[in-house]
Amino acid sequence: MTATYREQGDIAVITLNNPPVNGLGYETRKGIVDGIHRANDNDAIKAIVMVGDGKGFSGGADIREFNTPKALQEPWLQTVIRIVEDSAKPVIAAIHGVAMGGGLELALGCHYRVAVAGAQIALPEVKLGILPGAGGTQRLPRVLGLEPALNMIISGNPVMSEKLANTRLFDQMIQGDLIEGAIAFAKKMADARPLPKVRDIKIKYPNADGYLQFARNTVRTVAGPFPAPLKCVEAVAAAVSKKFDDGLKVERDLFLELVQTTESKALRHAFFGERAASKIPDVPADTPLRPVRAAAVIGAGTMGGGIAMNFANAGIPVKVLEAKQEALDKGLSTIRKNYENSMKKGKLTQEQLEKRMGLISGTMSYEDIGQADIVIEAVFEDMGVKETVFKKLDEVMKPGAILASNTSTLDVDKIAAFTKRPQDVIGTHFFSPANVMKLLEIVRGAKTAKDVLATTMALAKTIRKTGVVSGVCDGFIGNRMVEQYIRQAGFLLEEGCLPEQVDKAIEKFGFAMGPFRMSDLAGNDIGWYIRKRRYVEKPEVTYSKVADLLCEKGRFGQKTSAGWYDYKPGDRKAYPSEEVNQMIVAHSKDLGIERRKISDLEIIERLVYALVNEGALILEEGIALRASDIDMVYLTGYGFPLFRGGPMFYADTVGLSNVLMAMHRYAKGRHPEAWVPAPLLSKLAAENKTFN
Ligand SMILES: NC(=O)c1ccc[n+]([C@@H]2O[C@H](COP(=O)([O-])OP(=O)(O)OC[C@H]3O[C@@H](n4cnc5c(N)ncnc54)[C@H](O)[C@@H]3O)[C@@H](O)[C@H]2O)c1
Repeated sequence: MTATYREQGDIAVITLNNPPVNGLGYETRKGIVDGIHRANDNDAIKAIVMVGDGKGFSGGADIREFNTPKALQEPWLQTVIRIVEDSAKPVIAAIHGVAMGGGLELALGCHYRVAVAGAQIALPEVKLGILPGAGGTQRLPRVLGLEPALNMIISGNPVMSEKLANTRLFDQMIQGDLIEGAIAFAKKMADARPLPKVRDIKIKYPNADGYLQFARNTVRTVAGPFPAPLKCVEAVAAAVSKKFDDGLKVERDLFLELVQTTESKALRHAFFGERAASKIPDVPADTPLRPVRAAAVIGAGTMGGGIAMNFANAGIPVKVLEAKQEALDKGLSTIRKNYENSMKKGKLTQEQLEKRMGLISGTMSYEDIGQADIVIEAVFEDMGVKETVFKKLDEVMKPGAILASNTSTLDVDKIAAFTKRPQDVIGTHFFSPANVMKLLEIVRGAKTAKDVLATTMALAKTIRKTGVVSGVCDGFIGNRMVEQYIRQAGFLLEEGCLPEQVDKAIEKFGFAMGPFRMSDLAGNDIGWYIRKRRYVEKPEVTYSKVADLLCEKGRFGQKTSAGWYDYKPGDRKAYPSEEVNQMIVAHSKDLGIERRKISDLEIIERLVYALVNEGALILEEGIALRASDIDMVYLTGYGFPLFRGGPMFYADTVGLSNVLMAMHRYAKGRHPEAWVPAPLLSKLAAENKTFN
């Protein structure tokens, strides 16, 4: 039973019991209703206490039920709340741990609420692009007042129960045992009539209209492309201006409107995508994990330093190994500087800084790191260097240690073959800056053991990353796709665009940064290096040569104060470069191309559909386990706009046959070879299906 009923003297106790957070699934909702009826039918019962078992009162809707018929099966939450509110005997919500979303709405439908300190109170629906749809927007302002309630509903952030102790949300704060306290309170209130109902409270606020207008203006500017926050204001405005039941109707209508928006679908897609990414079909959830209590990192450069910080931030001691003292000192001092910057921004205390630095130590001896549970290699991107390092690791690391490589492009299976324990080798592809970016591509080699994969996935969570599994291929999921995107960006320059136009168009679409600003940040030499390899290994793949010309001028990006754009010392702003623009125009002329005006729509379609097509190949080849994994890679590692849900989800919303049609159109241009549709894309489009 996910909601149980018992009687203690003349008090009935309904206990929500649906781990992990007492989600309000069908059985639980039904159990509550049954309990209320049972208590009302028994003359010996005077009052009803509702409490959550385990970690909290209730975390709200049961997400396992989303998109299933059970979610729509009566009694709905609205019905449950009406039955609770209409109970002839007082119902007291006893709150601990969490009362969020539907859980808080249920409590607001009770006649009384008591709580212990330390409970998190929230209406987080806005984070999924919707609003509280079971009376939350109407009842919360009645107990908290207009402003505090609106702030909670718009932000979705939790507030601790003790901070709300003096509001009408709580009738009493309980010290000591919650159930005992709640039962004592219930006995005291057993005969009090009429039963208080939140719906009957009048919201008092001088010049509410003026305040709400101010709120609308503020919310409009911060909500960006997301419609939900503004609709939250409208729902709360209805709580002020309308009768309770009319306000409920407004809330319901707005809720139904929001549920249908692409933005809210995208947010829910990302929410479920994050959870789905941690599931690997052939690796059971109960796979025993290897302990990770101590870590080591090889190389204290850009990536090694950031990776080491991740361990220290999670309280795991980490040794950083470098070949030269000078490089080691430089790496460690960069780490300290990064922490100091966080401290200056108020994100870290001096004590925390010292504690974290205390967990990081440097060494130049492999013998020092042999006992680490995991070692992550982040040395130069060169197979020869990787070979030396992995052979050495094979010699010194204790049996069972996980040997990981942060390589961006090299074959993890080849790296594994340098050792006598390929089952312990895995790719952990961090993104720069490694201490900041959420994404961690976890590259599963042909021989990687299941428990190594499961342990690395769990480690991703420990260090607060979104772990996504990728198979072995050149560039894995993210960089393999981005190569097609960058390739189109290069062709666009040859055909008529300048870097600024391309960047602006795609940034308007919602990307955090356009391809040229991004390349300037990452270093244009990296792509140059990769292309030079491609010219030998895959001569059939066409590229615009304009990026090579740029690199030949030494314009590597921000680090050389010159790339696709010009940069001024100490200023990261990109200034269009006359020299580069002239070079681009001259290059078109050399190729005999008559430059044309290219629309923003064409720029967006060519860049995004290039991602989508490569994504479809990746899916088909099994490199990604599911389309949402690809979306998670792009949302967490490449600045793809969240409100569009990732490239594959976006293609689904455009319609795959529309995507295909556009690709056929672009195939008539200068580079048909770049527009060969992935068979999976053609198949799904023909069947009128979607990736997700
Ligand atoms: N920079 C990025 O954006 C990025 C992103 C993802 C992955 N990567 C990958 O991470 C790895 C490291 O890249 P990076 O940008 O940090 O390079 P980097 O040049 O900044 O750092 C490499 C470090 O490794 C050290 N090193 C070289 N050989 C060594 C050896 N034999 N033993 C010990 N230390 C050695 C060097 O002294 C240097 O400090 C590469 O495989 C790269 O492809 C880089």
